[in-house]
Amino acid sequence: MDLVDVFKKKKIGDKVEIEGWIRNNRDQKEFGFIDFSDGTCFNSLQLVYDNKLSNFDEVCHYHVGSSIIARGKLVKSNGKQAMELKIEEIELVGDAPADYPIQAKRHTMEFLRSVSYMRGRTRTFQAVFRVRSVAAFAIHDYFQKNNYLYAMTPLITGTDCEGSNQMFKVSTFDFNDIPVDKDGKVDFSKDLFSKQVYITGSGQLHGEAMAMSFKKIYTFGPTFRTENSNTKVHANEFWMIEPEIAFCDLNGLMDIEEDMLKYVVSYVLEHCSDEINFFDSFVEKGLREKLEKLVKSEFVRITHKEAIDLLKKSKKKFEFEPSYDEDLAKEHEKYITEHFNGPVFIKDWPKDIKAWYMKVNEDGKTCAAVDLEVPGAGEIMGGSEREIDLKVLDKRIKEKNVKKESIEWFLNLRRFGGCYHSGFGLGFERLLMYLTGMENIRDVIPFPRTPGNCDY
Ligand code: 4AD
Ligand code: MG
Repeated sequence: MDLVDVFKKKKIGDKVEIEGWIRNNRDQKEFGFIDFSDGTCFNSLQLVYDNKLSNFDEVCHYHVGSSIIARGKLVKSNGKQAMELKIEEIELVGDAPADYPIQAKRHTMEFLRSVSYMRGRTRTFQAVFRVRSVAAFAIHDYFQKNNYLYAMTPLITGTDCEGSNQMFKVSTFDFNDIPVDKDGKVDFSKDLFSKQVYITGSGQLHGEAMAMSFKKIYTFGPTFRTENSNTKVHANEFWMIEPEIAFCDLNGLMDIEEDMLKYVVSYVLEHCSDEINFFDSFVEKGLREKLEKLVKSEFVRITHKEAIDLLKKSKKKFEFEPSYDEDLAKEHEKYITEHFNGPVFIKDWPKDIKAWYMKVNEDGKTCAAVDLEVPGAGEIMGGSEREIDLKVLDKRIKEKNVKKESIEWFLNLRRFGGCYHSGFGLGFERLLMYLTGMENIRDVIPFPRTPGNCDY
């Protein structure tokens, strides 16, 4: 049976059979202890065996990492857990020889990344990937309870949302024999889709189409970007949640972002209490308090201009001088989130540094964009009210060099019963970094894809 059910449903005196892996095995002369985990819950169970077992000598030599099946009776324990299992029978299913990489000691994150296909066996990654699973459920739960449609947008697309230079190209061509036209250019008409296509960098534009039929939608899926940024917060494959809401303006959007984040944080605090306690002790001191505070707080909302004013007033020596026309650097984000000691919405960004689909404000200089910044993970959500004026869109598309033919269908949404609407993208891994205190995006994705790294 699953260990989680042993803890939840069984009591002292009950007999159980469990299957899982040995975390540690300490044998004394006449008895021994196995630290046992099956991955169905964060806590492990202590198994106690003695020399009455017919295979006692063999059990004493079971290696760390081996898989076993054990049967026995639950008895009272003086250890960390209320109970332990007194083994009556135990069998080895799969041995893990002495060179098993995940020994019962502290390993560095760098080392564990090099064996990412097995790092789920450590307590840290048991906790990380459990939180990942529970947080994903909480996100679906929030949107489903609030009348949103789960829209599954395409992964292969010819539509350019965040810039085609950011997208991986998809082709069935033999790379050593690519067809060319009479001008020597690649002849995409001969490819499977008869044109050039990409793997998506955002489901937003298709999400907007769905929102124009279903009012409130969200996507939750993998996203791909070619950016060659070797940072702790960028991956080339990451998961994104992209809600899109018809009849919603920028203020309404911030309300939704705040409400959703609080729901997800509360849900994780409630359902991953053991994991959060573990992170609080070993990964980020004060994590629990930070998360509990977030649920009760009201998020700060400032404009990009106010953010720059604040940075300039600080008199702090920044490596990059804060500027009213430019994006915030990591050090600026850090200063602002630390200054407010919590999540901060920054809105009304200079339009020239933001995407073409964002609504241009009346001043003609800024746009109705909003980013949510949190300490540590930086920008976890980015969103905006959408531009619906076709004339403005036409201008913006030209400015940003977007191929109009690739989004002609999208522009029709403005022609046929369009309405004001807004949406945002939540980077799922950035959220996980915030929830767990893990400092590197590579350690919240089971198999991370970052520049130079596509192992396993
Ligand atoms: O700010 P971004 O690029 O916005 C969009 O893609 C919009 N289409 C979203 C929308 O309005 N529907 O990305 C959204 C979020 C960021 O705030 C960040 O959390 C995350 O996605 N993100 C990344 N996460 C990990 N690695 C990367 N390379 C990321 N790029 C963006
Ligand atoms: Mg962004």
